[in-house]
Amino acid sequence: MLVAVVRETRAGETRVALVPELVAKLTGLGYDVAVEPGAGHAAQCDDDEYVAAGARLATEALRDASVVLSVAPLASAQARRLREGVATISFLPPAQSLDLIVERRDLLLTSFAMELVPRISRAQSMDALSSQALVAGYRCAVVAAGRLRRFFPLNMTAAGTVSPAEVVVLGAGVAGLQAIATCRRLGAVVRAYDVRAAAAEEIRSMGATAIELDLESLEGAGGYAREMTEERAARQRELLAPYIAAADALITTAALPGRAAPMLVTAEMVAQMRAGSVVIDLAADSGGNVQGSVPGAVVQIGRAQVWGGSNVPSQMPGPASRLYAQNVVNLLTLMTGEDGFAPDFDDEIVSSTCVTHAGEVSHAPTRELLQARAG
Ligand code: NAI
Repeated sequence: MLVAVVRETRAGETRVALVPELVAKLTGLGYDVAVEPGAGHAAQCDDDEYVAAGARLATEALRDASVVLSVAPLASAQARRLREGVATISFLPPAQSLDLIVERRDLLLTSFAMELVPRISRAQSMDALSSQALVAGYRCAVVAAGRLRRFFPLNMTAAGTVSPAEVVVLGAGVAGLQAIATCRRLGAVVRAYDVRAAAAEEIRSMGATAIELDLESLEGAGGYAREMTEERAARQRELLAPYIAAADALITTAALPGRAAPMLVTAEMVAQMRAGSVVIDLAADSGGNVQGSVPGAVVQIGRAQVWGGSNVPSQMPGPASRLYAQNVVNLLTLMTGEDGFAPDFDDEIVSSTCVTHAGEVSHAPTRELLQARAG
């Protein structure tokens, strides 16, 4: 059985779904591995390394594959080259991929979406949302440190004391906590806020101060945050404004699963920040936490420069690919039996992650989205 590794085609995507170090894991499971030439190039993985690890290079890897690994979903033209019954493993955000999903259903492909891996202990090693958020959170912190034209740490010198930078982080999930930890390691004073009650303790455990607002916490299903009412959002903005005005750097990472990111910071709030301050909006790609941020661009709002994230894990393609590939290989291992690829659809991880199979859209929320779209 052949596992194909795709050369990514999405603009700006620099990651690769399998790194040379992990080829042996798949050959050890009995798979042949074919890699499209140049697939790992942008992630600093050379074709020669894949070959040395036991894979072969194949321009037509998709044609003969049983399982196809990619980071971004295959484009329509790529999916059409696959045989019926072939399985794909990639990110495939359901709400933004409805046309691709219908096409895959009709092509009788089996599609697994990495963002649907359930957040249960047994699936932690397959949790690509977490692994990529870790990379993104780290990157946000170092971009903030690099763009701020002052020290992060306290410096006591013969010439006098340099006070540390003050950083505010909004959203303390996986990315936010990693941003906090990285800013702390660089010596900044960090304050952070998240709507989930459990977050305050997690923020403190990273060495930051939890910003306590006199507002109810918003816990939703599965440990995620709930959406705010407009009234609460306005009150939250009002209460956060003085913290933001006092910060040298603001990093926002707030997200809601399957929805646009909440708008936490108005342009007016940014305009209150000091000269030279820096705003990093990780959520710019999904609507933005900061009003006026632009994905993939730096814009000036008042005296602050606002950096909008766009596919931020791709800015560290080597480590992001290694972690993603490990997640994918762990999922593929779960779905491999004595005789090769044999997903057990009674397994919670397999059934939760599967979007299309045998001519059906197997993921119920996606079916509902399709029904709603059909009217
Ligand atoms: P996410 O990427 O969906 O959201 C990021 C953060 O934004 C979350 O902490 C969320 O509470 C926060 N947020 C949402 N609306 C906000 C608002 N209006 N103001 C401020 N903050 C807001 O979340 P992520 O990083 O994927 O993690 C969500 C939860 O899942 C966390 O509790 C995390 O600890 C948990 N988790 C559990 C895992 C497991 O059990 N295997 C693995 C990873 C995360």
